[in-house]
Amino acid sequence: MNRNSKVKLIAAFCLSCAFGLLHAQDAEKAFVKENMTFAAGQYRLMLQTPVQGKDGKGVMPHSTRKDGTVSKASIYMWTSGFFPGSLWYLSEYLGDKALQDSALVYTRKMEPVKSFTDNHDIGFMMYCSYGNANRFSPQRSYRDILVESARSLCTRYREKAGVIQSWNGFRSWHGNKVYDFPVIIDNMMNLELLFYASRATGDPSFRDIAVSHARHTMMNQVRDDYSCFHIVYYDKETGKPIKGETSQGYSDNSAWSRGQAWGIYGFTMCYRETKDPSFLTTAQRMADFYLDHPNLPSDKVAWWDFNANQPGYVPGVRSNANNVVLNYRDASAAACTASALLELSTYSEGKLAKKYLEGAKAILHSLGSPRYRAELGKNGNFILMHSTGAIPQNGEIDVPLTYADYYFLEALYRYDRILDGKPLF
Ligand code: GLY
Repeated sequence: MNRNSKVKLIAAFCLSCAFGLLHAQDAEKAFVKENMTFAAGQYRLMLQTPVQGKDGKGVMPHSTRKDGTVSKASIYMWTSGFFPGSLWYLSEYLGDKALQDSALVYTRKMEPVKSFTDNHDIGFMMYCSYGNANRFSPQRSYRDILVESARSLCTRYREKAGVIQSWNGFRSWHGNKVYDFPVIIDNMMNLELLFYASRATGDPSFRDIAVSHARHTMMNQVRDDYSCFHIVYYDKETGKPIKGETSQGYSDNSAWSRGQAWGIYGFTMCYRETKDPSFLTTAQRMADFYLDHPNLPSDKVAWWDFNANQPGYVPGVRSNANNVVLNYRDASAAACTASALLELSTYSEGKLAKKYLEGAKAILHSLGSPRYRAELGKNGNFILMHSTGAIPQNGEIDVPLTYADYYFLEALYRYDRILDGKPLF
């Protein structure tokens, strides 16, 4: 072959690769669009289901009951911010004014929560609702509500231990002992509200609390293999960690998959806010634990716990996990992990960046398939099936959950921006 023919052949090869890539990108954009359009259809139907309870306090879609009807929660349930948040992502992506109006209506219902101090969940509740409202349609009043919410969260900061107390108490599955200073891995998700509040006010104290909480969680809650304890009990007097146990996982030493997801997401977000490399490494190793685990099914949607029903893992005597022989997936853990992996891919390099992006893509394609995605008008009008809330408490087993939908939509939104080469924030 002469030189000219070689050059032509190489040029033709490069062109066909470029067309192939463009075609693949178009197909992924179409995948996102089809899922968002479907989800909007489901949620338009969801918007027609009435509020619940004689007092009308059940306003936020939460899950389904045994008979398949929608269960709705009060604004003080930890999941209350996800429905408005989902409406924000849908309306923003689709440019749909009617959905934006609904997002606003549901967000405004959340305002009284700004002074809630009874547990740590205010970050989930207010940042998914008002946080997204403020991001996509900023208003001074939203900022004020978010800052007040951050102040409420800070009332639970315990200086000696350097962490935010999650719950007021937890009765161990092993007997009757009630621990009065439990911190759960989920708490990492509440820190985003605090970082925001420091940026909004210029007051570093919110951020200092968030960083302290994340550092202590990294030391005391993340294990050497980069799985994590669901709960760590602290001593109120000394501020020292006492021991790790579980509330929603299979056993104290197991890896509860949603806890793993909260950790991957939380440490990735802390790296975004601080650029502290130890947060990045923690997020990456926790992500590797999920993606490389021998028990991760080939569709990358994790079992509810990586170690359920395995030798060496024993639930506490009072835990309902002792009675559950079937294994169940948790689509909510997979959706949250996908969203986190997409962000993590943007802070990672080379093979790792590719691994996290491909991992997220695989999860999204599984969740968007008929195996997990509901049919229009079915599944209580939630988007995803097959989540698991709390097997030890004998609740929410193999059901739709509002937060599975939220993180699925967030991940689709993020994926679309990555495909377009746009920054995530
Ligand atoms: N934050 C509670 C849960 O993940 O179920």
